[in-house]
Amino acid sequence: MFSPVKLTALALIFAQLLGAIHCGVYDNTDNWVLSNKSKSFPENAVLGGFDPEGYRSFVGRVLYAGSVVPARIRAETAYVTFNTDSVANTATSYEVLVSNETLSYQWVRSFDGFMEDNAVSVGTSSTNERVYICRARTYDAVFIGTLYLAQRKCNIRYESIPPKMYEKYEVLVRKQKPADCVHFDNQIN
Ligand SMILES: *[C@@H]1O[C@H](CO)[C@@H](O)[C@H](O)[C@H]1NC(C)=O
Ligand SMILES: *[C@@H]1O[C@H](CO)[C@@H](O)[C@H](O)[C@H]1NC(C)=O
Repeated sequence: MFSPVKLTALALIFAQLLGAIHCGVYDNTDNWVLSNKSKSFPENAVLGGFDPEGYRSFVGRVLYAGSVVPARIRAETAYVTFNTDSVANTATSYEVLVSNETLSYQWVRSFDGFMEDNAVSVGTSSTNERVYICRARTYDAVFIGTLYLAQRKCNIRYESIPPKMYEKYEVLVRKQKPADCVHFDNQIN
């Protein structure tokens, strides 16, 4: 049997494990629409790239194994892929990022896990780290990938192609237009 000392040590280790494992939490700064194959695709979805088959990839997110990660959505067939830092997978239920009159998005060049102003976060990982959206060009495609700032690389895994980590990549950032400008534009037209 275990001695009391060993049992105490085991209990401590167990408590530490519990403390380290979180369930990812969605970030709600931006507008995300819950979707699946049977729902019509949202109009203002944000474009992220295109896949090796030439289809456009829209920006999405999924919760997988306790982490919120970015997803690539092929609108035509609702084929949705995503990756963590160790797994490439597909999803049938997902959220789609949408813009509106005052919130739009753009990709900016970045590198090395630099924290860009207004970078869009999908949420947190199972280790309670913020997860961002990156993209890189490879294999005749522009893939949306997963950016953990601490890893300093854009992580892209897709189907059976060899996984890659990019030190230079683009990051999705939000651009806010003041509501007043929108009003002004409307008056001119
Ligand atoms: C798709 O989403 C709708 C609305 O959220 C839900 O009612 C429906 O059950 C979902 N269908 C599938 C196949 O998950
Ligand atoms: C756009 O979305 C943001 C975030 O949800 C919201 O605060 C803002 O009011 C929206 N703008 C318009 C014009 O609906």
